[in-house]
Amino acid sequence: MKRIHVMVAGLAAICGLLAGCERPPVDTVQRGYRGTGMELVYNPRTQAEQAANNQAPVPLEAASPDGPRAGQVYQNVKVLKDLSVAEFNRTMAAMTNWVAPKNGCAHCHNVANFADDSLYTKVVARRMLVMTQTINSDWKSHVAKTGVTCFTCHRGEPVPKEVWFQPLLPKGANDFAGNKAGQNAPAASVGLASLPNDPFTPFLLGAESIRVAGTQALPAGNRQSIKQAEWTYALMMHMSKSLGVNCTQCHNTRSLGSWENSSPPRVTAWHGIRMARELNLEFMVPLTTTFPANRLGPGGDVAKVNCATCHQGAHKPLYGAEMAKYHPELLVKAMPAATAASGVATLTADDMKALEALPASGGKPAAAPG
Ligand code: HEC
Ligand code: HEC
Ligand code: HEC
Ligand code: HEC
Repeated sequence: MKRIHVMVAGLAAICGLLAGCERPPVDTVQRGYRGTGMELVYNPRTQAEQAANNQAPVPLEAASPDGPRAGQVYQNVKVLKDLSVAEFNRTMAAMTNWVAPKNGCAHCHNVANFADDSLYTKVVARRMLVMTQTINSDWKSHVAKTGVTCFTCHRGEPVPKEVWFQPLLPKGANDFAGNKAGQNAPAASVGLASLPNDPFTPFLLGAESIRVAGTQALPAGNRQSIKQAEWTYALMMHMSKSLGVNCTQCHNTRSLGSWENSSPPRVTAWHGIRMARELNLEFMVPLTTTFPANRLGPGGDVAKVNCATCHQGAHKPLYGAEMAKYHPELLVKAMPAATAASGVATLTADDMKALEALPASGGKPAAAPG
């Protein structure tokens, strides 16, 4: 009798453990050579839900490039001045759909005077235009031809779903009891692991080294440590979670540091880390005083970008839907007036050639250490 009890308890315990796993069937995709175990496990049911959340909207019909320039007709146009008036209005309509469909033009405009810059949202939106152009023109090493639009981050909401702020240190976090580095309290930012909960400040704002694999035996001048590795793992958890992938999407876990053993997405990710850092430093942080207090974090810092801001659970944002190509005004910085006026495209033949020549995920990062 007693034995049956033990067996029942044992079975219940096993069922309990299995309940933590995902219900089969699941799909497995091979990422590396056969036998390397570089496999990704997908649950088709979670995938279906993900796919529904990552639909790109239907592009607006193209507008006529003819007629006077927006910069000639309107009073206060600084970024989009070389578009035709029709193209300019199409961009305004698209931006409204992408960022503020509920509030409409009034989210950014004093509708009694569209030239007025009194709403912070318009000032921010103007910087966001330049930021989007910068991503699409300077960071092809990451976004390739796919590129981004305002929708990639905003998805129809004024505040993107995935942004980060610096957490306030709890009282006593850094006192005689030692620096807990925000650890040992499960945090959503690191997939509920008990890792440092803010891997963003050192790596996506600062430029701390992410590499932790020891390259020398003795600790003299060696910063590699378990503590340091925890920060790296925290960032890696964020990256995996944001993209909806396992570590094996990028690494052969036999040797996490080796580039030779890694798959091409790791190179794309390497550029992504540098891109996110630049977006935060060049665009978000300088906007801090433009935002009202209710949009800032608990410590008064501005909302910032991480991998999840664009990816939102997909290995490519919107599963690689190429939205940006329908908005050539978002593809290049400081559009030359001549090409803009010529109609068809705001891209020169050279721009197009450069775009076509891009490999899907870039080469080995030129500046990657090791
Ligand atoms: C997400 C913010 C945002 C939304 C929503 C928005 N706009 Fe704009 N609008 C801007 C920005 C930024 C500029 C300045 C662009 C520049 O400097 O190149 C601008 C400029 C304009 C101008 C030029 C005014 C002038 O004389 O300088 C007009 C007209 C305009 N918008 C119309 C609209 C209309 C109509 C809508 C709604 C369909 C709309 N906008 C929605 C951000 C927005
Ligand atoms: C890389 C991601 C990203 C892209 C691309 C992006 N934004 Fe943003 N945007 C942000 C973040 C982060 C914030 C800060 C969130 C907040 O307002 O607290 C923000 C804030 C804004 C705000 C202020 C909203 C509010 O109500 O406070 C406006 C307006 C805006 N963006 C317009 C745009 C427009 C227009 C584009 C495209 C030209 C664009 N954004 C592209 C990330 C992005
Ligand atoms: C989307 C691609 C990607 C995913 C997924 C990913 N990593 Fe990384 N990982 C990188 C890149 C890129 C670097 C190098 C960063 C740098 O040097 O700036 C790196 C570096 C590392 C390092 C440091 C290697 C060294 O040279 O010291 C470790 C350890 C690591 N990752 C572990 C993991 C673990 C564990 C996971 C899963 C939880 C993971 N990674 C998921 C891209 C990825
Ligand atoms: C500004 C938006 C944006 C941000 C922020 C961003 N990505 Fe991406 N990422 C993209 C786009 C767009 C693509 C698709 C490029 C393509 O089609 O090849 C992409 C592609 C990738 C790929 C290649 C996927 C594949 O299957 O080939 C990896 C890996 C990746 N991103 C990792 C990251 C990591 C890690 C971060 C954060 C450090 C990050 N991304 C931040 C926009 C972004």
